[in-house]
Amino acid sequence: MIATKDIYKSFDEKTVIDDISVTFDAGKTNLIIGRSGSGKTVFMKILIGLLRPDSGQILYNGRNLPSMRKKELNLLRREMGMLFQGSALFDSMTVLENVMFPLTMFTRDTWKEREKRANFCLERVNLEEAGHLYPGEISGGMMKRAAIARAIALNPKYLFCDEPNSGLDPKTSLLIDDLIHDLTTEYNMTTVINTHDMNSVMNIGEKIIFINEGKKEWEGTKEGIMNSNNQTLNDFVFASDLFKRIKEVENIMYEEG
Ligand SMILES: Nc1ncnc2c1ncn2[C@@H]1O[C@H](COP(=O)(O)OP(=O)(O)OP(=O)(O)O)[C@@H](O)[C@H]1O
Ligand SMILES: [Mg+2]
Repeated sequence: MIATKDIYKSFDEKTVIDDISVTFDAGKTNLIIGRSGSGKTVFMKILIGLLRPDSGQILYNGRNLPSMRKKELNLLRREMGMLFQGSALFDSMTVLENVMFPLTMFTRDTWKEREKRANFCLERVNLEEAGHLYPGEISGGMMKRAAIARAIALNPKYLFCDEPNSGLDPKTSLLIDDLIHDLTTEYNMTTVINTHDMNSVMNIGEKIIFINEGKKEWEGTKEGIMNSNNQTLNDFVFASDLFKRIKEVENIMYEEG
């Protein structure tokens, strides 16, 4: 579990994260949603220790990240898998070498052991055939899966994904969502996903945090999100015509009994 307490961050006196307190549960896909510029990426960078908050705590099973010493922080980093906007694979390495990379960095395993683990992860994301190819030779969806394989190579306790579906078509997005969700359950990871994709919200939103202008405006489940009375949340959710129509149909069905 990860818990934040009153996380505050400003850049040049402009508040970007305004006293956010949340918990992210293990074995669940925890989604952070909000408009472009609302602070999702900054908040995720704070969670993983890439940015330092001005104040507040980030507790990893009770251990506060901002007050960790370098050694403890490095140990914690080893327990984190990350998937950033874009897939950020190394173009000069094959898919297999990309997945082996964190193992090379963080373990003393032999080449054979690392190759075995990397191939296992590639199989898990249905990419066992593509290990010898370079990122430039595979599709966007395959790159995402390769990046997921790399993110889980070290068997992380925590998985962070910033807009995992950016640039993917709706069907491939659903497959990537399902994959992240399945891995989260299978390995009991605490997974945090930034998204503004309402399809993802309805597909895998087990816990949803809605951030608006740096503040936590609402939290709940995908079941709760359609029936919320929060106007700011509704403006975000029903900005898409599809979800407005779903709501209308639901209302008609409700009225008809
Ligand atoms: N290093 C920085 N220095 C100054 N301001 C920053 C920095 N990083 C982010 N910001 C500002 O913080 C705000 C939140 O940005 P952030 O990238 O977290 O938004 P986001 O919710 O991830 O948006 P998107 O959905 O477009 O990815 C923006 O106003 C941005 O300009
Ligand atoms: Mg972002």
